Amino acid sequence: MESERIFLRPFVIGDAEEVFAVCRDFNVTKYLPLPYPYTLDMAKSWISSQVENKDKRLEFAVILKSNNKLIGSIGLGLENADRHGEVGYWISPDYWGKGYATEALKLLIDFAFKELKFHKIYAKHYVENPASGKVMQNCGMSLVGTLKDHSFKNGKFHDVKLYELINKHD
Ligand SMILES: CC(C)(COP(=O)(O)OP(=O)(O)OC[C@H]1O[C@@H](n2cnc3c(N)ncnc32)[C@H](O)[C@@H]1OP(=O)(O)O)[C@@H](O)C(=O)NCCC(=O)NCCS
Repeated sequence: MESERIFLRPFVIGDAEEVFAVCRDFNVTKYLPLPYPYTLDMAKSWISSQVENKDKRLEFAVILKSNNKLIGSIGLGLENADRHGEVGYWISPDYWGKGYATEALKLLIDFAFKELKFHKIYAKHYVENPASGKVMQNCGMSLVGTLKDHSFKNGKFHDVKLYELINKHD
């Protein structure tokens, strides 16, 4: 999968150092289901587990075409019986605000609808993380509603906004 500035590819174990370098940052993990502190071993076992979990979830590294640098991750849950799935993503803080998450999500939606023949994708974000909601909006997703006290993280419950996009050609 590729667009103007990025491409998506499966992770390889050699990506572990770069994943660790990003996910050790509290500002990246605080809105994600990732532990803090995040270790290099966690990055290695997360990448290793992706092959055995490939029937349940696909994960892709977001790579800059200009220099082959790994700048993020985007994943899709495979709820095949219902032909839908939940997306999740992170981008390295060095590259925030440049449209890369939006570009990656558009690629993944295209893949989910055209290749996997999914009928719907959905995504959730903490209300404290409006930039992620903006990414979803930029990709044409619609707000379904707010799930109260839906996630417990860093000692408290968080309200979460749920977005969805239906495949209009299906
Ligand atoms: C959320 C995240 C993926 C966004 O990545 P990104 O590459 O900076 O996203 P983009 O540049 O494509 O788009 C960000 C949008 O949010 C907007 N934005 C940024 N800060 C904002 C804020 N505080 N309130 C509202 N909108 C905001 C930007 O203006 C941009 O919208 P625009 O393109 O219409 O101007 C990134 O911040 C991240 O990885 N955060 C940590 C992990 C995370 O939260 N993942 C998502 C979990 S649901």
